[in-house]
Amino acid sequence: MLQKIQQTADYIKSKITVIPNYAIILGTGLGELVNVITEKKEIPYEEIPNFPVSTVEGHSGKLIFGKLGGKDVLAMQGRFHYYEGYNMKEVTFPVRVFKALGIDYLFVSNAAGGMNSSFEIGDIMLIEDHINLFPEHPLRGKNFNELGTRFPDMSEAYNKELRKMATDIAKENNIKLQYGVYVGTSGPTFETPSEYNYFKIIGGDAVGMSTVPEVIVANHAKMKVLAFSIITDLGVIGKIVEVSHEEVQEAAKIAQPKMALIMEEIIRRIS
Ligand code: HPA
Repeated sequence: MLQKIQQTADYIKSKITVIPNYAIILGTGLGELVNVITEKKEIPYEEIPNFPVSTVEGHSGKLIFGKLGGKDVLAMQGRFHYYEGYNMKEVTFPVRVFKALGIDYLFVSNAAGGMNSSFEIGDIMLIEDHINLFPEHPLRGKNFNELGTRFPDMSEAYNKELRKMATDIAKENNIKLQYGVYVGTSGPTFETPSEYNYFKIIGGDAVGMSTVPEVIVANHAKMKVLAFSIITDLGVIGKIVEVSHEEVQEAAKIAQPKMALIMEEIIRRIS
């Protein structure tokens, strides 16, 4: 595994001139954030050794290098979901490569269903914490001390300072920001009404099928993480309606300029 990570990082290094310090994983319907990135250079996943290739509609599958907020960034357009059949080592492989490149900051976005009754479709939720309900753990198995410790601390999985910056920037720009706990589940089914209710009872505010594996590995690797959910549908009793992937994509698109602004400003302000 260590060799594979290094091989992939070396390949990427050979294709770029500046190594960024910020990586962004773009969720369903949120790929347009890359339009804000300038001086772009793209590498399709197919060309990257050891990289899985993404399959889901709405994910085009490439790494994009360029400038955002005056800094060099790497954006991952199209992520690998557990429900597609990848194992957790594959789902989180890109994060390992980011760390091997020297990247210290990971920004993550996703589309999620909202269980919190004060949420509305199109809201942006800053993830304060998560509950991992995936049936497989990305760190199960042999631990490589080169990558991180056997029993990683998760008491601040989402960096407090970055969260404060997001809050400040949202306020300054009159962007409504919600806060809450993200529940990560395998999917690919959306939730039954009883499942939404259960996730609410155990402390969740939003639920989705991604993010948690990548955030666990980023914490293992001692990266600083910030993540946002776009609330694309509601799992609130009385407001639950049929939900489709297309509707999720549409709802995410509407919110993404606001999320892009927050991310860009944070990256600009990090010193
Ligand atoms: N549940 C799980 N994943 C999701 C949802 C949802 O309601 N909306 C977008 N991704």
